[in-house]
Amino acid sequence: MEQYGAKLVMGALVTTMMGLNEERRQVLLDYQDMLPLVTATKPGQPYPPQCQRATKRAADLVNEVIAERRAGLRHDFLGDLVQARDQGDMLSDQELFGMIFGLFGAIAATTRSAGGALYMLYTHGDQRAQLIRNTTLIPDAVEECLRIASNGYFTFARIATRDTEVGGTAIREGMIVRPSPLAANYDPTVFPDPLRFDIHRKPKRILSFAVGPHHCIGSVLGRTTITIAIQRLLARFPNARLADPNFIPVYGGAVGELRLQSLPMTIQ
Ligand code: HEM
Repeated sequence: MEQYGAKLVMGALVTTMMGLNEERRQVLLDYQDMLPLVTATKPGQPYPPQCQRATKRAADLVNEVIAERRAGLRHDFLGDLVQARDQGDMLSDQELFGMIFGLFGAIAATTRSAGGALYMLYTHGDQRAQLIRNTTLIPDAVEECLRIASNGYFTFARIATRDTEVGGTAIREGMIVRPSPLAANYDPTVFPDPLRFDIHRKPKRILSFAVGPHHCIGSVLGRTTITIAIQRLLARFPNARLADPNFIPVYGGAVGELRLQSLPMTIQ
């Protein structure tokens, strides 16, 4: 996860899209590593000092990125966002900050999904062999990986706007609810035998990128990044395999996340 997910996948995105160097990339990685501690902090308790430090460094980085675009030091889509704030006045300062801060987290979602994809492919050798023989199958295989192993339950807090009921559970107006868009990826009425990993399934309507007004704007980029990362890995190291055939995955992450902690592989 350190060498492939953090360096290749996340590195490619933040380096090419945002021009961040290694040191700044590390700030984002430290922030992501710390996030699980935040969701483990009980209401009313202060966030642990390392959370506060990592959040401040990430927030400082966002402000530096904004200042650099304002000074015309780099022209890219972040500069367009800054212009939307300054010229079109379409974003408030807080929205501009939040948008860029949020993007950092979104990129980490790609890293996690790439890890999930590797785990699926390297525990299903027969299907991986098909991809090596026929690389045109890779995009469909990635879609199936995203369906079954992208981000865990990946829940987002929502606040009920009225009294309602879901699956027999009463929900009162004002309650915080953590719905899981990904649970629908395992709906047996849509995806028969949902726990079976099948690169030929061609799953439609997966909810890994959510749905509605907050649908992921990076869904094409996320899919493309993972597809290229897998294409390159299979082409360059066709004999790569799990270092331990009996490997048992260990997951961590914030509430609702499934972050694969490591995936030791032999690439000879
Ligand atoms: C495989 C990779 C990715 C996955 C699984 C993923 C998943 C998601 C999900 C589930 C949401 C909805 C959040 C919600 O309901 O509040 C979301 C939103 C978002 N994603 Fe992604 N994402 C990925 C990659 C990316 C990338 C690469 C970018 C940008 C470079 C990106 C940018 C965003 C943004 C800006 C939003 C917020 C949209 C809004 O609230 O209007 N995502 N993503």
